[in-house]
Amino acid sequence: MTTPPFPTDPTALEHMLDWARTRITEGPDPRNGAQSFAALDDRLGHSITSVGIGAAQAFALFTDVIVPSTRPFDHPTSLAFVAAAPSPAALSVNAVLGAAEIFAGNWDGGSGAIHAENQALGWLAGLAGWPHSAGGVFVSGGTLGNLSALHAARIACTRFDRPATHILCSEEAHSSIAAVASVMNVALIKVGADAQGRMQADAARAAVQDATGIFAIVANAGATNCGAVDDIAGLADLAQELDVWLHVDGAYGLAALADPEARPLFDGIERADSFIVDPHKWLFAPYDSCALVYREPLRGAQAHGQQGAYLETLDQEAWNPSDYALHLTRRARGLPLWYSLSTYGTDAYRQAIARTRQIAAEIAAGIEATPGLELILGPQLTVILFSPSTLSDDALAEWAEAQRRSGALLCLPTTWRGEKVLRLCIVNPATDPAHVLGVLGTLV
Ligand SMILES: Cc1ncc(COP(=O)(O)O)c(C=O)c1O
Repeated sequence: MTTPPFPTDPTALEHMLDWARTRITEGPDPRNGAQSFAALDDRLGHSITSVGIGAAQAFALFTDVIVPSTRPFDHPTSLAFVAAAPSPAALSVNAVLGAAEIFAGNWDGGSGAIHAENQALGWLAGLAGWPHSAGGVFVSGGTLGNLSALHAARIACTRFDRPATHILCSEEAHSSIAAVASVMNVALIKVGADAQGRMQADAARAAVQDATGIFAIVANAGATNCGAVDDIAGLADLAQELDVWLHVDGAYGLAALADPEARPLFDGIERADSFIVDPHKWLFAPYDSCALVYREPLRGAQAHGQQGAYLETLDQEAWNPSDYALHLTRRARGLPLWYSLSTYGTDAYRQAIARTRQIAAEIAAGIEATPGLELILGPQLTVILFSPSTLSDDALAEWAEAQRRSGALLCLPTTWRGEKVLRLCIVNPATDPAHVLGVLGTLV
């Protein structure tokens, strides 16, 4: 009998499952963070050898070198960028999903998983007020979601022989919109935002006066830098007047659809053609996951369906997720959201989103009440911009690094209206406002 090329190591497997259990129940170490290339190369640079180092040693590198050199975004003190807060249920099913090795690119390969993913997409579409016929797919992130939606928008336009050369968006649009425009070789018309960072329909209307070739308007539902939600209803009117596609980029902010008190912020989304929201941001799912939803999924399929001789045996009438974005093979990355929703129920989601907004409100109020700290903007959704009146930019950066290293708080500067300010974005209902305010108190 020949030895299999890849034997199982049951002891290492047990050890891995134990490690996963502890990580899921206890969370990450907030002091973890990036190491230098040299430090990492010293430990990992010789890990791939001709005969292998064995599972125990390879896993030790994972636990002792790799994980400690990564940012613990899902820790409740992680308030920079847009962090993550996966629920224990979502993390658990994500761990076993890898073992199940489901191909979820087409119905034939993954029907059960796809059906469950579609339940989660249906919940999101319902929150937006869209019909049951709406649908889409989970892609790896907001960038790919925006690209896939805007490609569909362009195809929808060119099918009628109309020029499709420009996308209209806010100056506060996420950097991925510029990246998408570059990939698609189209231009952006950037509309100035109001004092809170919102694109208003009047400003957008003025910007399109002499423009030609617009095929899509992108509305922000939670601009990353400042949390602003554009005037979606006014932009929906404009999109209708121009007969162009309205895409809502809610990668971060559309999670707040789940909170009825925040829902009016998004009025007008019922009339959009597509939206994205990343469950890996504020919907308590792990990386990597972006829900891309089309009001009329057929328009997504017209843009993205792939044809190939070896694919002809597949049932073209079935729901094949590969038809709805720029991809073919995919893992069932929407399952953690489905599992978490099924486990806890949608009420728990409503409460968690409402709680996170409450935490942001408490932190903003605390900043306002602290002499020496100036609340600049927010909270808009859960983004807060503020500034200590006395510290230089260098001192701010030093403070932020010291807090990160100690694990007290991950809070980084950004630029707002030409000024360096500090930014917080809260997506974790376990964040403790008193703790955050205590750390911010060391700034003054
Ligand atoms: C509003 C918005 N759109 C798009 C993206 C891109 O998403 P991803 O990083 O998942 O590609 C982000 C990321 O932060 C975002 O905040």
